[in-house]
Amino acid sequence: MSTQPDRVLIFDTTLRDGEQSPGATMNVEEKLAVARQLARLGVDIIEAGFPFASPGDFEAVQRIAREVGSADGPTICGLARATRSDIEAAARAIEPAAKGRIHTFIATSDIHMQYKLKKSREEVLAITDEMVTFAKGFTDDIEFSPEDAGRSEPAFLYQVLERAIAAGATTVNIPDTVGYLTPSEFGNLIRGIKENVPNIEQAVISVHGHNDLGLAVANFLEAVKNGARQLECTINGIGERAGNAALEELVMAMHVRRQYFNPFFGRAPESEAPLTHINTQEIYKTSRLISNVTGMLVQPNKAIVGANAFAHESGIHQDGVLKNKLTYEIMDAQLIGLNDNQIVLGKHSGRNAFRTRLQELGYELTDQELNKAFLRFKELADKKKEISDRDIEAIVNDETQQVVEHFKLELVQVSCGSNARPTATVSVRTPDGEELMDAAIGTGPVDAVYKAINRVVNIPNDLIEFSVQSVTAGIDAMGEVTIRLRHGDRIYSGHAANTDIVVASSNAYMLALNRLYTAIQAGDTLHPQRDDSRVPAGTGV
Ligand code: KIV
Ligand code: ZN
Repeated sequence: MSTQPDRVLIFDTTLRDGEQSPGATMNVEEKLAVARQLARLGVDIIEAGFPFASPGDFEAVQRIAREVGSADGPTICGLARATRSDIEAAARAIEPAAKGRIHTFIATSDIHMQYKLKKSREEVLAITDEMVTFAKGFTDDIEFSPEDAGRSEPAFLYQVLERAIAAGATTVNIPDTVGYLTPSEFGNLIRGIKENVPNIEQAVISVHGHNDLGLAVANFLEAVKNGARQLECTINGIGERAGNAALEELVMAMHVRRQYFNPFFGRAPESEAPLTHINTQEIYKTSRLISNVTGMLVQPNKAIVGANAFAHESGIHQDGVLKNKLTYEIMDAQLIGLNDNQIVLGKHSGRNAFRTRLQELGYELTDQELNKAFLRFKELADKKKEISDRDIEAIVNDETQQVVEHFKLELVQVSCGSNARPTATVSVRTPDGEELMDAAIGTGPVDAVYKAINRVVNIPNDLIEFSVQSVTAGIDAMGEVTIRLRHGDRIYSGHAANTDIVVASSNAYMLALNRLYTAIQAGDTLHPQRDDSRVPAGTGV
């Protein structure tokens, strides 16, 4: 009996591979907010993390399993290297989910086996067998990945996959770990697997790929044409190095070009049945959420979710679009949930109007969050006549950030100008409840503020990125500041919006410092693919 679905399953790994991007670390509350949004987006499987990495990662996966993994919700998956301790941790973390999956992996390319694992092919085959069987003892839903499949010897790869399926893997995932393959090579790899792994019909073929050569999405589409029925992807394409295949690009490519893809699913070209279960209207909001919580900005020309993706700058294009949208547009912006950024509220709008608009935009706030957001809205309405959906979104994102405020900025004051030396005074409440005040001179007002804050907080760090963007057009617009700072080999981000960009810059900096402080308190996190410490002798990787 074939277990291949008649559509593509979307496996979102924003919370696992995405979170492995430098600086994209999220705390438990943020991961939960992302998981809830991924459920609204309609992904089939959420890879919620690598539970063995740290107590914080374990807790995040467990809470997502409990709070998002309902019977009609997505399957919740935990990553595990092919070791007993990793698999046990993943099994315990996903246990509360109605549908839970363990995803275990081991490298199969010669270069990885020789230098990283220091294991022979026979040993890797035996570990695959033993660890998939072990995982199967916890749940029926087992995914197995031969890491670096793209550079593995095909005949050996077929053998490993056959063993994994025989031991109980229900999904076999084919990673192009280093983003090396071209589309036709990836397509051929999937076809080769279909033709040469005798028990392949007992498992769903999945693909996972990195974007080092900018080919991940094209590779996946070729894989789909050759029989892949699960795509592992991330929102905005975030992930290790150049990132993963972007969910929004894959989904919209298959939606806009469904007449082209339908025959590969045995459907008539004109079939209107969707090829994924994604609610495309949630794409834009999900993209903004991920950008805000990770501090990873979306490039303006990014396909589907970039600020320019639906903007028509040239006169000829604008003229054509006004006459008939289809002259230069292959999809409607509303399909991804992008509205026209209408002016919706103003100074006289009350709490009810605010709450109603939030609901229309799909935000579910607790009473406490709503109160804080409404206060911010009122403050903004005093300064800015017309409040758009983008303003509301910026306020909500600001007020619902879940960063523990170890250090609290009580006051920031700057003096600057053409003939003045930029000077800042700050007052910060420390974790002990003490209020400390200090001042500094800088090259500009923001530099002065950051120097003054550093004198109080006293955690060494290097500011490696600072960006300001206007939320809407107009001189009274809010500025959104995103910063990234480095401490040791880790990167932390902060994001804040305000009509005063010095205040926004100060708040973004405090958020990044508080994330850094939380991380110092929590201790180290293990990297699933690079770090082989804390592996019990004799098993697996
Ligand atoms: O890129 C990769 O190979 C991975 C595996 C853990 C699936 O992320
Ligand atoms: Zn990966």
